[in-house]
Amino acid sequence: MNKKIAVTGIKPTGIPHIGNYFGAIKPALELTKEYDARYFIADYHALNSIKDPKLLQEMTYEVAATWLACGLNPKRSLVYRQSQVPETFDLTSILMAFTPKGLMNRAHAYKAKLAENEELKRDPDDGVNMGLFSYPVLMAADILLFDADVVPVGKDQAQHLEMTVDIAQSINHNYQKELLKIPQALIRKQTETVIGLDGRKMSKSYDNTIPLFLPTKKMRKLVMKIVTNSQTVEERKDPETCNIFALYKLFATPKEQEKMKIRYRAGGMGWGHAKQALFEKMEETISPIRKKYDEIISDKQYIDEILAAGSQKAREIAAEKIQSLKNELGLGTA
Ligand code: ADP
Ligand code: TRP
Repeated sequence: MNKKIAVTGIKPTGIPHIGNYFGAIKPALELTKEYDARYFIADYHALNSIKDPKLLQEMTYEVAATWLACGLNPKRSLVYRQSQVPETFDLTSILMAFTPKGLMNRAHAYKAKLAENEELKRDPDDGVNMGLFSYPVLMAADILLFDADVVPVGKDQAQHLEMTVDIAQSINHNYQKELLKIPQALIRKQTETVIGLDGRKMSKSYDNTIPLFLPTKKMRKLVMKIVTNSQTVEERKDPETCNIFALYKLFATPKEQEKMKIRYRAGGMGWGHAKQALFEKMEETISPIRKKYDEIISDKQYIDEILAAGSQKAREIAAEKIQSLKNELGLGTA
């Protein structure tokens, strides 16, 4: 029997942070045991905001090295660059013809930009390029091109997945045939929104992230910046409302979490102690992956080879899909 297919992408807009890791990378890697996994670097999506070629190239290597350091096995799963699979853009053009403009008007990222412009009394279109406006169509193409059954992502991508389903259904409906497989978002409840240093969603756009691969000292410095309330050392504390504990839970075993809750509730533990405990748990998990990352990122040729081989295989799969789709749509040759 054919394996089910998992697809996901990460934008090369900086070293992935622990929100990306727990929300998308780790769940995606766990799927590779049972699923046919197709994971990529969404470099065309990044181009909407990153206009410096050196930087984009560097960040592409960083995301590729992250996938590999975290355990993606290129012999078993596909890893590729979106830009090296041009069939994605064939499919994007097809999907455009079935995407109502009104659907794009409702997309969160676009709406957030509009709201920001309004607040700053700027023109509503200020800083809105067509890449941002039609972002969900390109993302739908990434997913539908590879017949994804599941798409492991964080909660912030749920709307994009709903739009992907809407677009695919409208095509299937028009041709009265399941030309495109309807994918399902895979969003883990416990890690759907990892919080950042300030308690908001961890995001590069909020500048509140803890990047996965920082030198130990820098990582400790960031952990010490996590926002807390002004309770004194002696006071009893509530772990459930604490930003430090929310992050601690991601790294600690259930037993360790229980122990930490007891320390919180007993009083006598200051925020500095809680931060130190979090830092130590993080270091335990991250330091072996960081070591691999440092090795991989220093060998760009190795990364290039892996991405070239992965992209070639991805193109073969994609070309077949595009050809059969074009035939169905009346875009084929006799
Ligand atoms: P960012 O918001 O920092 O720009 P990306 O948009 O590149 O991150 O996200 C890549 C993947 O990581 C997506 O699947 C996204 O849902 C997931 N992700 C991002 N931030 C978080 C978070 N704070 N918690 C859980 N998942 C997240
Ligand atoms: N939009 C995703 C993000 O901002 C990245 C992405 C692009 C993606 N294409 C995808 C995720 C396809 C899953 C599937 O994080």
